Amino acid sequence: MPRTEFYETAVQNGFYGLEKSGLFGKKDHVRKYWEDIHIKLSVREAAVEILKRKNRIRIVDLGCGSGEGIELLTHIPDYRSQEVPGQAFILKKKDIESYVGLDISPAMVSQGQKNYTGLDQIQFIEADLSQDFPLSNHPPFDLYFSSYASLSHLDHADLQKLTTQIFQHVDDVGYLVFDLHGRFSPEWPIYWNADAKRRLPYTMAYLLPVEQQSKETVDWFTVIYWDSEELKTLIKQAARQANRKCEIVLLKDRSIMVGRHMDTALFKPERFQFRLQVNRLFDRDYRGKPDILNMNLDYLNNYKSISQKIWDHFKEYSRNISLRSKNNSPHQISDLSFLQRFIPIRIKAVTRLEEYQNLWSLTISTLQAVMEKNTDVLKNILYSVDEKVAQELDSLSWLLTHSERFPVLDFWASIMGPQVACVLRNLEFNLPEGLGCGHGLFCVVKIEKYAS
Ligand SMILES: C[S@@+](CC[C@H](N)C(=O)[O-])C[C@H]1O[C@@H](n2cnc3c(N)ncnc32)[C@H](O)[C@@H]1O
Repeated sequence: MPRTEFYETAVQNGFYGLEKSGLFGKKDHVRKYWEDIHIKLSVREAAVEILKRKNRIRIVDLGCGSGEGIELLTHIPDYRSQEVPGQAFILKKKDIESYVGLDISPAMVSQGQKNYTGLDQIQFIEADLSQDFPLSNHPPFDLYFSSYASLSHLDHADLQKLTTQIFQHVDDVGYLVFDLHGRFSPEWPIYWNADAKRRLPYTMAYLLPVEQQSKETVDWFTVIYWDSEELKTLIKQAARQANRKCEIVLLKDRSIMVGRHMDTALFKPERFQFRLQVNRLFDRDYRGKPDILNMNLDYLNNYKSISQKIWDHFKEYSRNISLRSKNNSPHQISDLSFLQRFIPIRIKAVTRLEEYQNLWSLTISTLQAVMEKNTDVLKNILYSVDEKVAQELDSLSWLLTHSERFPVLDFWASIMGPQVACVLRNLEFNLPEGLGCGHGLFCVVKIEKYAS
Protein backbone atom coordinates (compact mmCIF):
# COMPACT_ATOMS: atom_id res chain seq x y z
CA MET A 1 0.00 0.00 0.00
CA PRO A 2 1.50 3.41 -0.90
CA ARG A 3 1.81 5.73 2.08
CA THR A 4 -0.68 8.61 2.17
CA GLU A 5 -0.32 9.98 5.73
CA PHE A 6 1.13 13.24 4.50
CA TYR A 7 -1.85 13.88 2.25
CA GLU A 8 -4.30 12.81 4.99
CA THR A 9 -2.81 15.46 7.29
CA ALA A 10 -2.75 18.09 4.55
CA VAL A 11 -6.47 17.55 3.84
CA GLN A 12 -7.28 17.59 7.58
CA ASN A 13 -5.42 20.88 7.90
CA GLY A 14 -7.64 22.40 5.24
CA PHE A 15 -4.99 22.79 2.51
CA TYR A 16 -7.25 21.06 -0.02
CA GLY A 17 -10.49 23.01 0.56
CA LEU A 18 -12.04 25.05 -2.22
CA GLU A 19 -9.77 28.03 -2.90
CA LYS A 20 -11.91 31.16 -2.87
CA SER A 21 -9.50 33.56 -1.31
CA GLY A 22 -9.81 37.11 -2.51
CA LEU A 23 -13.44 36.91 -3.56
CA PHE A 24 -14.90 36.63 -0.04
CA GLY A 25 -13.87 36.91 3.56
CA LYS A 26 -12.10 39.36 5.82
CA LYS A 27 -9.09 39.86 3.58
CA ASP A 28 -10.78 39.94 0.21
CA HIS A 29 -9.29 41.77 -2.79
CA VAL A 30 -11.22 44.99 -2.06
CA ARG A 31 -9.74 45.08 1.43
CA LYS A 32 -6.25 44.46 0.10
CA TYR A 33 -6.14 46.48 -3.12
CA TRP A 34 -8.67 49.21 -2.37
CA GLU A 35 -9.18 49.79 1.37
CA ASP A 36 -5.64 49.01 2.57
CA ILE A 37 -4.18 51.05 -0.29
CA HIS A 38 -6.46 53.94 0.61
CA ILE A 39 -5.18 53.87 4.21
CA LYS A 40 -1.52 53.56 3.16
CA LEU A 41 -1.76 56.50 0.75
CA SER A 42 -3.63 58.57 3.34
CA VAL A 43 -0.94 58.23 6.02
CA ARG A 44 2.04 58.35 3.65
CA GLU A 45 2.67 62.10 3.91
CA ALA A 46 2.55 61.97 7.71
CA ALA A 47 5.01 59.05 7.81
CA VAL A 48 7.40 60.82 5.42
CA GLU A 49 7.20 64.02 7.45
CA ILE A 50 7.92 62.23 10.73
CA LEU A 51 10.89 60.33 9.26
CA LYS A 52 12.35 63.59 7.96
CA ARG A 53 12.52 64.84 11.53
CA LYS A 54 13.41 61.62 13.33
CA ASN A 55 15.29 58.42 12.56
CA ARG A 56 12.79 56.19 14.27
CA ILE A 57 9.08 56.53 14.84
CA ARG A 58 6.89 55.93 17.89
CA ILE A 59 3.41 54.54 17.14
CA VAL A 60 0.37 53.73 19.23
CA ASP A 61 -2.42 51.73 17.56
CA LEU A 62 -5.84 52.46 19.08
CA GLY A 63 -8.07 49.35 18.92
CA CYS A 64 -5.23 47.47 17.24
CA GLY A 65 -6.84 44.03 16.87
CA SER A 66 -4.02 41.57 16.29
CA GLY A 67 -1.66 44.22 14.91
CA GLU A 68 -2.99 44.92 11.43
CA GLY A 69 -1.65 48.48 11.81
CA ILE A 70 1.92 47.16 11.74
CA GLU A 71 1.35 45.52 8.36
CA LEU A 72 -0.37 48.61 6.96
CA LEU A 73 2.26 51.06 8.16
CA THR A 74 5.27 48.97 7.13
CA HIS A 75 3.93 48.44 3.60
CA ILE A 76 3.31 52.01 2.48
CA PRO A 77 4.65 52.17 -1.09
CA ASP A 78 7.52 54.63 -1.47
CA TYR A 79 6.94 56.97 -4.43
CA ARG A 80 10.71 57.66 -4.41
CA SER A 81 11.50 54.00 -5.16
CA GLN A 82 12.69 54.81 -8.69
CA GLU A 83 15.29 57.22 -7.26
CA VAL A 84 16.30 54.99 -4.34
CA PRO A 85 16.63 51.41 -5.65
CA GLY A 86 15.42 48.76 -3.21
CA GLN A 87 13.43 51.34 -1.25
CA ALA A 88 10.01 49.74 -1.68
CA PHE A 89 8.34 50.95 1.51
CA ILE A 90 8.45 54.24 3.41
CA LEU A 91 8.64 52.69 6.85
CA LYS A 92 10.33 49.43 7.75
CA LYS A 93 10.08 47.50 11.02
CA LYS A 94 13.60 48.65 11.88
CA ASP A 95 12.39 52.28 11.67
CA ILE A 96 9.94 51.67 14.50
CA GLU A 97 11.31 52.69 17.88
CA SER A 98 8.13 51.61 19.63
CA TYR A 99 4.74 50.26 18.58
CA VAL A 100 2.14 49.86 21.30
CA GLY A 101 -1.10 48.14 20.31
CA LEU A 102 -4.05 48.82 22.61
CA ASP A 103 -7.18 46.68 22.46
CA ILE A 104 -10.02 45.77 24.80
CA SER A 105 -10.13 42.17 23.59
CA PRO A 106 -7.80 39.73 25.40
CA ALA A 107 -7.97 37.35 22.42
CA MET A 108 -6.81 40.09 20.03
CA VAL A 109 -4.00 41.13 22.36
CA SER A 110 -2.75 37.58 22.74
CA GLN A 111 -2.99 36.95 18.96
CA GLY A 112 -1.01 40.16 18.36
CA GLN A 113 1.65 39.02 20.83
CA LYS A 114 1.88 35.67 19.00
CA ASN A 115 2.07 37.35 15.58
CA TYR A 116 5.02 39.52 16.59
CA THR A 117 6.98 37.38 19.05
CA GLY A 118 10.65 38.26 19.14
CA LEU A 119 10.24 41.90 18.08
CA ASP A 120 11.17 43.83 21.23
CA GLN A 121 9.93 47.19 20.03
CA ILE A 122 6.40 45.82 19.55
CA GLN A 123 4.03 45.33 22.47
CA PHE A 124 0.31 44.74 22.92
CA ILE A 125 -1.61 45.91 25.97
CA GLU A 126 -5.19 45.19 26.99
CA ALA A 127 -6.99 48.50 27.47
CA ASP A 128 -10.46 49.99 27.26
CA LEU A 129 -10.19 53.23 25.29
CA SER A 130 -13.53 54.47 26.60
CA GLN A 131 -11.65 55.01 29.86
CA ASP A 132 -8.73 57.42 30.08
CA PHE A 133 -5.87 57.23 27.55
CA PRO A 134 -3.85 54.49 29.23
CA LEU A 135 -0.38 55.62 28.11
CA SER A 136 -0.34 59.15 29.47
CA ASN A 137 2.76 58.24 31.51
CA HIS A 138 4.60 56.95 28.45
CA PRO A 139 6.80 59.24 26.33
CA PRO A 140 4.78 60.94 23.54
CA PHE A 141 4.13 59.14 20.25
CA ASP A 142 4.58 60.49 16.72
CA LEU A 143 1.62 58.64 15.29
CA TYR A 144 -1.61 57.85 17.15
CA PHE A 145 -3.04 55.46 14.59
CA SER A 146 -6.34 53.63 14.23
CA SER A 147 -7.81 51.57 11.41
CA TYR A 148 -11.03 49.90 10.39
CA ALA A 149 -13.53 51.58 12.66
CA SER A 150 -12.07 50.72 16.08
CA LEU A 151 -12.87 54.22 17.36
CA SER A 152 -16.50 53.97 16.17
CA HIS A 153 -16.92 51.59 19.13
CA LEU A 154 -16.55 54.52 21.53
CA ASP A 155 -19.42 56.77 22.58
CA HIS A 156 -19.30 60.29 21.20
CA ALA A 157 -18.29 61.77 24.58
CA ASP A 158 -15.63 59.09 25.16
CA LEU A 159 -14.01 59.75 21.80
CA GLN A 160 -14.06 63.47 22.58
CA LYS A 161 -12.27 62.79 25.88
CA LEU A 162 -9.75 60.39 24.33
CA THR A 163 -8.97 62.87 21.53
CA THR A 164 -8.37 65.67 24.04
CA GLN A 165 -6.08 63.45 26.14
CA ILE A 166 -4.14 62.39 23.04
CA PHE A 167 -3.73 66.02 21.93
CA GLN A 168 -2.38 66.82 25.40
CA HIS A 169 -0.01 63.86 25.17
CA VAL A 170 1.54 64.98 21.86
CA ASP A 171 4.99 66.50 22.11
CA ASP A 172 5.97 69.24 19.62
CA VAL A 173 4.31 67.52 16.65
CA GLY A 174 2.13 64.42 16.31
CA TYR A 175 -0.53 62.89 14.07
CA LEU A 176 -3.83 61.32 15.02
CA VAL A 177 -5.58 59.03 12.53
CA PHE A 178 -9.34 58.43 12.73
CA ASP A 179 -10.99 55.69 10.73
CA LEU A 180 -14.71 55.72 11.57
CA HIS A 181 -17.92 54.38 10.11
CA GLY A 182 -19.43 56.95 7.72
CA ARG A 183 -22.93 58.05 8.62
CA PHE A 184 -24.27 58.61 5.09
CA SER A 185 -23.03 55.40 3.49
CA PRO A 186 -25.49 53.96 0.95
CA GLU A 187 -25.15 50.75 2.96
CA TRP A 188 -27.35 52.04 5.80
CA PRO A 189 -29.73 54.77 4.58
CA ILE A 190 -32.04 53.89 7.51
CA TYR A 191 -29.56 55.84 9.67
CA TRP A 192 -29.28 58.98 7.55
CA ASN A 193 -31.77 60.93 9.65
CA ALA A 194 -30.78 59.49 13.01
CA ASP A 195 -29.28 61.46 15.87
CA ALA A 196 -25.52 61.69 15.24
CA LYS A 197 -24.56 60.96 18.84
CA ARG A 198 -26.70 57.85 19.23
CA ARG A 199 -25.21 54.37 19.22
CA LEU A 200 -26.81 52.34 16.44
CA PRO A 201 -26.66 48.65 15.56
CA TYR A 202 -23.89 47.18 13.41
CA THR A 203 -23.01 43.62 12.47
CA MET A 204 -20.10 41.79 10.86
CA ALA A 205 -22.47 39.20 9.40
CA TYR A 206 -21.17 40.01 5.91
CA LEU A 207 -18.57 37.37 6.70
CA LEU A 208 -21.30 34.69 6.88
CA PRO A 209 -22.67 32.82 3.86
CA VAL A 210 -25.67 34.68 2.38
CA GLU A 211 -28.18 32.09 3.59
CA GLN A 212 -27.14 32.76 7.19
CA GLN A 213 -27.47 36.55 6.92
CA SER A 214 -30.81 36.88 8.64
CA LYS A 215 -31.53 40.04 10.67
CA GLU A 216 -33.06 37.97 13.44
CA THR A 217 -30.20 35.55 13.98
CA VAL A 218 -26.97 37.46 13.30
CA ASP A 219 -24.93 39.07 16.10
CA TRP A 220 -25.45 42.82 16.51
CA PHE A 221 -23.48 45.35 18.52
CA THR A 222 -23.73 49.14 18.56
CA VAL A 223 -21.37 51.79 17.15
CA ILE A 224 -21.39 55.50 16.37
CA TYR A 225 -21.67 56.53 12.71
CA TRP A 226 -19.82 59.78 11.92
CA ASP A 227 -20.11 62.60 9.43
CA SER A 228 -17.35 65.10 8.67
CA GLU A 229 -19.05 68.02 10.45
CA GLU A 230 -19.43 66.09 13.71
CA LEU A 231 -15.82 64.97 13.48
CA LYS A 232 -14.49 68.45 12.71
CA THR A 233 -16.42 69.86 15.67
CA LEU A 234 -14.99 67.16 17.94
CA ILE A 235 -11.44 67.91 16.75
CA LYS A 236 -11.89 71.67 17.20
CA GLN A 237 -13.23 71.24 20.73
CA ALA A 238 -10.44 68.83 21.68
CA ALA A 239 -7.84 71.27 20.32
CA ARG A 240 -9.32 74.08 22.37
CA GLN A 241 -9.46 71.99 25.54
CA ALA A 242 -5.92 70.67 25.08
CA ASN A 243 -4.60 74.06 23.97
CA ARG A 244 -3.02 72.61 20.84
CA LYS A 245 -2.82 73.79 17.23
CA CYS A 246 -4.58 71.33 14.91
CA GLU A 247 -4.80 70.93 11.18
CA ILE A 248 -6.88 68.34 9.36
CA VAL A 249 -4.39 67.28 6.71
CA LEU A 250 -6.65 64.68 5.09
CA LEU A 251 -10.34 63.82 5.23
CA LYS A 252 -11.67 61.16 2.86
CA ASP A 253 -14.59 58.86 2.24
CA ARG A 254 -13.52 55.26 1.74
CA SER A 255 -15.56 52.48 0.11
CA ILE A 256 -18.58 54.48 -1.02
CA MET A 257 -20.05 51.80 -3.27
CA VAL A 258 -18.00 48.79 -2.21
CA GLY A 259 -18.68 48.85 1.54
CA ARG A 260 -19.24 45.35 2.91
CA HIS A 261 -22.95 45.94 3.51
CA MET A 262 -23.68 46.93 -0.10
CA ASP A 263 -23.72 43.17 -0.64
CA THR A 264 -26.09 42.42 2.28
CA ALA A 265 -29.73 43.34 2.89
CA LEU A 266 -29.26 43.89 6.62
CA PHE A 267 -29.75 47.68 6.61
CA LYS A 268 -31.52 48.24 3.29
CA PRO A 269 -34.11 46.45 1.19
CA GLU A 270 -31.79 45.11 -1.51
CA ARG A 271 -28.65 43.02 -1.71
CA PHE A 272 -26.18 43.97 -4.45
CA GLN A 273 -22.95 42.39 -5.61
CA PHE A 274 -20.81 45.50 -6.07
CA ARG A 275 -18.10 44.33 -3.74
CA LEU A 276 -18.13 40.83 -5.20
CA GLN A 277 -17.92 42.22 -8.74
CA VAL A 278 -14.99 44.47 -7.84
CA ASN A 279 -13.34 41.51 -6.09
CA ARG A 280 -13.69 39.65 -9.37
CA LEU A 281 -12.20 42.55 -11.33
CA PHE A 282 -9.15 42.51 -9.09
CA ASP A 283 -8.91 38.74 -9.54
CA ARG A 284 -6.42 37.91 -12.27
CA ASP A 285 -8.29 34.77 -13.30
CA TYR A 286 -11.67 36.33 -13.80
CA ARG A 287 -12.99 37.54 -17.14
CA GLY A 288 -16.06 39.73 -16.82
CA LYS A 289 -18.30 41.95 -18.88
CA PRO A 290 -18.49 45.68 -18.08
CA ASP A 291 -22.27 45.68 -17.76
CA ILE A 292 -22.16 43.58 -14.59
CA LEU A 293 -20.93 46.74 -12.91
CA ASN A 294 -23.97 48.81 -13.82
CA MET A 295 -25.65 49.99 -10.69
CA ASN A 296 -29.18 50.98 -9.94
CA LEU A 297 -29.42 52.82 -6.65
CA ASP A 298 -33.09 53.74 -6.90
CA TYR A 299 -33.70 52.33 -3.42
CA LEU A 300 -31.92 55.42 -2.06
CA ASN A 301 -34.65 57.72 -3.40
CA ASN A 302 -36.85 56.74 -0.45
CA TYR A 303 -34.22 58.04 1.97
CA LYS A 304 -32.86 61.13 0.23
CA SER A 305 -35.27 63.66 1.69
CA ILE A 306 -34.59 65.02 5.14
CA SER A 307 -37.19 63.64 7.52
CA GLN A 308 -40.13 65.88 8.34
CA LYS A 309 -39.28 65.60 12.05
CA ILE A 310 -35.85 67.15 11.49
CA TRP A 311 -37.21 69.96 9.29
CA ASP A 312 -39.87 70.73 11.90
CA HIS A 313 -37.23 70.92 14.62
CA PHE A 314 -35.07 73.15 12.46
CA LYS A 315 -37.91 75.51 11.57
CA GLU A 316 -39.04 75.77 15.16
CA TYR A 317 -35.55 76.60 16.39
CA SER A 318 -34.99 79.08 13.58
CA ARG A 319 -38.33 80.79 14.28
CA ASN A 320 -37.46 81.27 17.93
CA ILE A 321 -33.85 82.19 17.41
CA SER A 322 -34.11 85.86 18.42
CA LEU A 323 -36.12 85.00 21.50
CA ARG A 324 -33.72 82.24 22.50
CA SER A 325 -30.60 84.29 21.89
CA LYS A 326 -31.72 86.42 24.85
CA ASN A 327 -32.73 83.49 26.98
CA ASN A 328 -30.57 80.61 25.88
CA SER A 329 -30.04 77.28 27.53
CA PRO A 330 -26.88 75.39 26.48
CA HIS A 331 -29.00 72.44 25.38
CA GLN A 332 -30.94 74.57 22.91
CA ILE A 333 -27.75 76.07 21.50
CA SER A 334 -26.27 72.65 20.83
CA ASP A 335 -29.49 71.44 19.18
CA LEU A 336 -29.55 74.44 16.92
CA SER A 337 -25.91 74.27 15.97
CA PHE A 338 -26.33 70.55 15.34
CA LEU A 339 -29.20 71.21 12.94
CA GLN A 340 -27.38 74.06 11.24
CA ARG A 341 -24.45 71.72 10.63
CA PHE A 342 -26.50 68.65 9.88
CA ILE A 343 -28.80 69.89 7.16
CA PRO A 344 -26.10 71.21 4.76
CA ILE A 345 -23.86 68.15 5.26
CA ARG A 346 -26.81 65.82 4.73
CA ILE A 347 -27.60 67.55 1.41
CA LYS A 348 -23.93 67.58 0.35
CA ALA A 349 -23.60 63.87 1.14
CA VAL A 350 -26.51 62.91 -1.09
CA THR A 351 -25.06 65.03 -3.91
CA ARG A 352 -21.64 63.42 -3.42
CA LEU A 353 -23.16 59.94 -3.70
CA GLU A 354 -24.80 60.94 -6.96
CA GLU A 355 -21.52 62.41 -8.25
CA TYR A 356 -19.58 59.26 -7.49
CA GLN A 357 -22.31 57.07 -8.94
CA ASN A 358 -22.00 59.15 -12.10
CA LEU A 359 -18.21 58.68 -12.22
CA TRP A 360 -18.71 54.94 -11.77
CA SER A 361 -21.18 54.87 -14.68
CA LEU A 362 -18.80 56.93 -16.84
CA THR A 363 -16.06 54.37 -16.19
CA ILE A 364 -18.29 51.60 -17.50
CA SER A 365 -19.41 53.66 -20.48
CA THR A 366 -15.74 54.39 -21.27
CA LEU A 367 -14.94 50.73 -21.14
CA GLN A 368 -17.84 49.88 -23.41
CA ALA A 369 -16.91 52.62 -25.87
CA VAL A 370 -13.29 51.42 -25.99
CA MET A 371 -14.29 47.81 -26.47
CA GLU A 372 -16.70 48.75 -29.24
CA LYS A 373 -14.04 51.11 -30.71
CA ASN A 374 -16.61 53.90 -30.57
CA THR A 375 -14.27 56.89 -30.64
CA ASP A 376 -17.06 59.50 -30.77
CA VAL A 377 -18.61 58.31 -27.52
CA LEU A 378 -15.17 58.08 -25.96
CA LYS A 379 -14.28 61.64 -26.98
CA ASN A 380 -17.58 62.95 -25.62
CA ILE A 381 -16.99 61.30 -22.29
CA LEU A 382 -13.43 62.58 -21.98
CA TYR A 383 -14.48 66.15 -22.88
CA SER A 384 -17.30 66.11 -20.33
CA VAL A 385 -15.12 65.47 -17.28
CA ASP A 386 -12.30 67.34 -15.57
CA GLU A 387 -8.68 66.62 -16.41
CA LYS A 388 -7.90 64.27 -13.53
CA VAL A 389 -10.94 62.11 -14.22
CA ALA A 390 -10.18 62.16 -17.96
CA GLN A 391 -6.65 60.87 -17.24
CA GLU A 392 -8.01 57.96 -15.23
CA LEU A 393 -10.57 57.04 -17.89
CA ASP A 394 -8.09 57.50 -20.69
CA SER A 395 -5.77 54.95 -19.04
CA LEU A 396 -8.40 52.31 -19.85
CA SER A 397 -8.51 53.36 -23.47
CA TRP A 398 -4.69 53.34 -23.68
CA LEU A 399 -4.45 49.88 -22.16
CA LEU A 400 -6.96 48.32 -24.48
CA THR A 401 -5.47 49.86 -27.61
CA HIS A 402 -2.02 48.56 -26.57
CA SER A 403 -3.16 45.15 -25.36
CA GLU A 404 -0.76 43.33 -27.73
CA ARG A 405 2.18 44.73 -25.73
CA PHE A 406 1.16 42.65 -22.69
CA PRO A 407 2.14 39.03 -23.18
CA VAL A 408 -0.42 37.47 -20.84
CA LEU A 409 -2.73 34.56 -21.38
CA ASP A 410 -5.91 36.49 -20.77
CA PHE A 411 -5.53 40.26 -21.17
CA TRP A 412 -8.99 41.10 -19.80
CA ALA A 413 -8.60 39.03 -16.66
CA SER A 414 -4.98 39.87 -15.89
CA ILE A 415 -4.63 43.51 -16.95
CA MET A 416 -7.90 45.17 -17.88
CA GLY A 417 -10.15 43.99 -15.03
CA PRO A 418 -7.69 44.95 -12.24
CA GLN A 419 -7.11 48.34 -13.91
CA VAL A 420 -10.85 49.05 -14.08
CA ALA A 421 -11.03 48.34 -10.34
CA CYS A 422 -8.04 50.66 -9.74
CA VAL A 423 -9.73 53.44 -11.74
CA LEU A 424 -12.92 53.13 -9.67
CA ARG A 425 -10.76 53.27 -6.54
CA ASN A 426 -8.69 56.23 -7.72
CA LEU A 427 -11.80 58.19 -8.71
CA GLU A 428 -13.07 57.72 -5.16
CA PHE A 429 -9.71 58.66 -3.63
CA ASN A 430 -9.59 61.86 -5.71
CA LEU A 431 -13.03 63.10 -4.67
CA PRO A 432 -13.14 66.37 -2.70
CA GLU A 433 -13.01 66.38 1.10
CA GLY A 434 -14.84 63.43 2.67
CA LEU A 435 -18.29 63.90 4.16
CA GLY A 436 -19.12 60.55 5.76
CA CYS A 437 -20.75 58.90 2.76
CA GLY A 438 -18.47 55.87 2.55
CA HIS A 439 -18.25 52.77 4.73
CA GLY A 440 -15.26 54.50 6.31
CA LEU A 441 -14.57 58.14 7.10
CA PHE A 442 -10.79 58.55 7.24
CA CYS A 443 -9.10 61.56 8.77
CA VAL A 444 -5.50 62.53 9.55
CA VAL A 445 -4.95 65.38 12.01
CA LYS A 446 -1.64 67.12 12.62
CA ILE A 447 -1.26 68.39 16.18
CA GLU A 448 1.32 70.93 17.29
CA LYS A 449 2.16 72.72 20.50
CA TYR A 450 1.81 76.51 20.36
CA ALA A 451 5.18 78.21 20.46
CA SER A 452 5.67 79.49 24.01
C1 LIG B 1 -12.90 46.08 13.41
S1 LIG B 1 -11.64 45.75 14.57
C2 LIG B 1 -10.25 46.59 13.86
C3 LIG B 1 -8.95 46.04 14.35
C4 LIG B 1 -7.69 46.60 13.71
N1 LIG B 1 -7.54 48.01 13.94
C5 LIG B 1 -7.66 46.32 12.22
O1 LIG B 1 -7.43 47.28 11.45
O2 LIG B 1 -7.81 45.16 11.81
C6 LIG B 1 -12.10 46.78 15.94
C7 LIG B 1 -11.24 46.56 17.17
O3 LIG B 1 -11.58 47.54 18.16
C8 LIG B 1 -11.46 46.93 19.43
N2 LIG B 1 -12.25 47.71 20.42
C9 LIG B 1 -13.59 47.85 20.49
N3 LIG B 1 -13.93 48.61 21.54
C10 LIG B 1 -12.77 48.98 22.15
C11 LIG B 1 -12.47 49.76 23.30
N4 LIG B 1 -13.43 50.32 24.04
N5 LIG B 1 -11.17 49.91 23.66
C12 LIG B 1 -10.18 49.34 22.92
N6 LIG B 1 -10.42 48.58 21.82
C13 LIG B 1 -11.70 48.41 21.44
C14 LIG B 1 -12.02 45.52 19.19
O4 LIG B 1 -11.63 44.60 20.19
C15 LIG B 1 -11.42 45.19 17.83
O5 LIG B 1 -10.19 44.55 17.93
